[in-house]
Amino acid sequence: MAVNKEHPLVVLTVAFVKEQLEGAEAGHDWWHIHRVYTLACKLGEAERADMLVVQLSALLHDIADAKFHGGDEELGPDRAAAYLALTELDADSQKHVVDIIRHMSFKGGFNEGKFYSLEYAVVRDADRLDAMGAIGIARTFHYGGFKNRPLYDPAVPSVQYADKEAYKGSTAPTLNHFYEKLLLLKDGMLTESGKRLAEGRHAVLQGFVEQFLAEWHGEA
Ligand code: ADP
Ligand code: NI
Repeated sequence: MAVNKEHPLVVLTVAFVKEQLEGAEAGHDWWHIHRVYTLACKLGEAERADMLVVQLSALLHDIADAKFHGGDEELGPDRAAAYLALTELDADSQKHVVDIIRHMSFKGGFNEGKFYSLEYAVVRDADRLDAMGAIGIARTFHYGGFKNRPLYDPAVPSVQYADKEAYKGSTAPTLNHFYEKLLLLKDGMLTESGKRLAEGRHAVLQGFVEQFLAEWHGEA
């Protein structure tokens, strides 16, 4: 199905998601959803995906992020499923959307390869692109501030986490997040259109880290 931003179910879902995200942290708020939705529509059309599934998954993918709900990873998919059950969407598409949402999160890369569909690839790439580039930098320092983390500490090296729990429990300085997640995203892109956009955004991240460290050491 082609993209239709006026589809009644899309319009209803936009209103539902805005309500769910009232007061959310600025890196995971309605505007994050809006950016991911806009990108997912663009990538999905290029990849000839089922656009209703793409649109609903992008809109519903972060309605209850585990980070802000005591680590409960099922709450988001469960709420999405409960919402969709009240709509006219066919059962197969409902299940597809919920499966996509359940498998979206990065979590240190420990969630990879457990589910695949073209629509999943599109929405996941769109979400990860929003963690890269200028917006990615802004979101990351905003989140670090929200958690009152230091910007950088030369004494705390970046690490490869042993498991998902260690990744989620990290209290490392914000610059470490670039090495632990953001700079790894480019190579994990699943769609051709996602890979192309990721090149530019990756270069922005790299240039930023290089300049940040040069300024830190008084070299630039
Ligand atoms: P996922 O749910 O895919 O694991 P997250 O929700 O953890 O992804 O990350 C989304 C964005 O939130 C990151 O791209 C980053 O901007 C910010 N963020 C998450 N964890 C951290 C962290 N430990 N330090 C700084 N920013 C973070
Ligand atoms: Ni997201």
